[in-house]
Amino acid sequence: MTEELIELGKKNAAIKAIEKNVKENMIIGIGSGSTIVYAVKRLGEINKEKDLNLKCIPSSFQSSQLIIQNGLELVSLERYPEIDVDIDGADEIDKDLNLIKGGGGCLVQEKIIASNSKKLIIIADFRKKSEKLGMNWKHGVPVEVIPMAYFPIMMKLKELGGNPKLRMAKSKSGPLITDNGNFIIDVDFGEISNPKELDEKILFIPGVVDTGLFIGMTTKAYIGDRDGKVLILNKK
Ligand code: A5P
Repeated sequence: MTEELIELGKKNAAIKAIEKNVKENMIIGIGSGSTIVYAVKRLGEINKEKDLNLKCIPSSFQSSQLIIQNGLELVSLERYPEIDVDIDGADEIDKDLNLIKGGGGCLVQEKIIASNSKKLIIIADFRKKSEKLGMNWKHGVPVEVIPMAYFPIMMKLKELGGNPKLRMAKSKSGPLITDNGNFIIDVDFGEISNPKELDEKILFIPGVVDTGLFIGMTTKAYIGDRDGKVLILNKK
């Protein structure tokens, strides 16, 4: 039953966000993960039904595939460096709409897309909302790193008070390799009281490509609740 409610929450949030934020001729950023699947499906439908002429920029191999499979036009940042709306999921959303992302390993391209968008719209089910980052999401902050630097970076992350773990691949021995050819270190910092400061400290370590902390970037979050309603949270 809970699984069904989670999927319903993802679907309701995704559909509402698409219907409220997408207009004709827009350049749309497409996030990654499981919630975005519902959004891209709806985007493909309304693009066809209403002849919207949408152009989509992917944030991962997965999202390129989704764009193509749903009959949408796949374009790049080189051609369209200013995105109208970026739609993406999140692993955790705090009361200020700061995020932890990267549970699916796609944080770097997701952050590039988000930072070149006029609006970042987050879609998620009820499990993702929390008071502080680190309260609900217990897998740590994903940090994408250049492979040759992973060990000293792990030592430095410990000095920052974290418990770092190199993310391992499934169905292959060894570490997970991102779409950019890098490693991911998941760092448990417990409850994070100052995510902006933490992000800055991690980004200062040589060899760190980016973190899954998305600070002050979200415009709105659509949260699909257990009762079928969608809660809309706005940037303050
Ligand atoms: C991908 O690496 C992530 O940033 C996802 O956006 C995030 O993990 C949300 O994924 P789900 O929609 O599967 O929860």
